[in-house]
Amino acid sequence: MSKAKVRALRSVDLAYADPDKALGFFTDVWNLSHVGENASVHFLRGTGAFHHIVTLRRAPQKAILRMVLDATDRSTIDKLHAQVVAHSLKSIDPPGTLRQPHGDYGFGFKDPEGRNIAIVCDVKDHADSADAPDRPRKLSHVNINAGDSDATLACYRDALGFTLTDTTRRLRFLSCNADHHSMVLGFAGGPTLNHIAFEMPDLESVMRGAGRMRDDGRGLEWGPGRHGPGNNVFCYFLGPEDLPVEYTAEMQQVDDTHRTGTPENWKWPPGRLDHWGISAHPSERMETAGLNYRFTADGYRLDEWR
Ligand SMILES: [Fe+2]
Repeated sequence: MSKAKVRALRSVDLAYADPDKALGFFTDVWNLSHVGENASVHFLRGTGAFHHIVTLRRAPQKAILRMVLDATDRSTIDKLHAQVVAHSLKSIDPPGTLRQPHGDYGFGFKDPEGRNIAIVCDVKDHADSADAPDRPRKLSHVNINAGDSDATLACYRDALGFTLTDTTRRLRFLSCNADHHSMVLGFAGGPTLNHIAFEMPDLESVMRGAGRMRDDGRGLEWGPGRHGPGNNVFCYFLGPEDLPVEYTAEMQQVDDTHRTGTPENWKWPPGRLDHWGISAHPSERMETAGLNYRFTADGYRLDEWR
């Protein structure tokens, strides 16, 4: 039997002491749209079809509740659950019926380092999905720090069906569809956040977004530049409560013929960090900000969605 695979990164669920302040940022500056509030959880969408790509809720301290992945149908969810069980993970929620807008069916679990992951199917998404200038389409990728990068890679590859598309000295790039990467995995920092990247329709929108952030008193923490792995353009910033966020565009598209890159492929000349060669190093403030974003203890349990 062939291995079941997730097919997309859908959303991230975030918690803040002041979610209304974060909501103002995500709507007025980051250019997502508020599509509703349910049991004090705010839902935010991009221009793509996904019902929401970020949720915000109140909690004593900032945290990531979970990363939400999309699967094709119920039978794929059941196969993915069996693969997760076979991977000998300790905390796994059983698959079951969900309430919209979370999906029709799904389950959650803790990965080997305690990150919360939900996998869902049949979310009632939006009929409209046209690009709009200066507005993010969807999540591009989540970049997560790691303590045991090998264990996490083995789980995402063997239990979730991700493909390793590239490696550098500091990062591993994982794909679950045509995008070169939807998850990125580091080698240090424990199970914390590195950054969350949002896909813009084009380079112009990335740059205009950088201007909007500057107007909001949030200057560039890294970029603009064009990454090696993925060939995507980037600008990095700090959002609410120093949430590390990236605007990106032009992600490389891959297929079965793609050959996994190695650190040897990504050696830059001295002083150069990207294809264009105009970006300085990331700010130290941004490099450490994500270490303060941790996954909650029980965010893998989907009781509130059932
Ligand atoms: Fe990124």
